[in-house]
Amino acid sequence: MALDALALDFTICLETPDLEHRILELTDHAFGPGRFVKTAERLRENSHVIPDLSFVAMRGETVIGSVRMWPIFVHNFNANTYEPLAFLGPIVVDDAHRGLGIGKALISACVEAAFGKGLRAVLLVGSQSYFKPFGFDKAQNITLPGPVDPNRLLIRYSQPDIAFAGKVCPENAQVI
Ligand SMILES: CC(C)(COP(=O)(O)OP(=O)(O)OC[C@H]1O[C@@H](n2cnc3c(N)ncnc32)[C@H](O)[C@@H]1OP(=O)(O)O)[C@@H](O)C(=O)NCCC(=O)NCCS
Repeated sequence: MALDALALDFTICLETPDLEHRILELTDHAFGPGRFVKTAERLRENSHVIPDLSFVAMRGETVIGSVRMWPIFVHNFNANTYEPLAFLGPIVVDDAHRGLGIGKALISACVEAAFGKGLRAVLLVGSQSYFKPFGFDKAQNITLPGPVDPNRLLIRYSQPDIAFAGKVCPENAQVI
């Protein structure tokens, strides 16, 4: 699948395994090794990207942007429900290609794909100033497996009348 990005010389495509090296290179450059100690990483370690929800921006043969989505669920202990969600991140655009709408195109692609496959929310840890225009709001009553700035825990629901509450776990977690 490839959607042409309007009037710009890049395409948005699904991530493929051969691109992982370059994706990690972009991510390392943008975030450095400090990213591994963040709580968000607890939801990614020992897990796997969701292949049909993780996208790259390509300029010719070169990866110039990436957004990855990971399988998580919200365990509502009181209601004893398990809601599958997608955890968005990292999103990164190559330094030389920022401000061209590539980040926006990546977010649209992965969020639409997540809702298209029936997931009812996308969660992330990131800045409100960047993500609010894409429909993300502070996640209320949701906790992560570690400390996180509540102003940066953001969620976008597929419908306005949905609200989940509970503890977020990686897909492979053992819930007691
Ligand atoms: C954040 C990042 C992915 C944005 O990518 P980008 O391709 O430059 O973003 P876009 O060109 O699609 O910008 C979309 C909109 O967000 C705005 N924007 C861009 N970077 C922003 C930022 N850091 N904070 C707030 N708004 C921002 C743009 O002005 C644009 O607004 P507009 O639609 O009104 O013109 C890119 O700067 C990046 O890779 N940063 C380093 C990694 C990072 O911080 N990732 C996000 C973690 S929270």
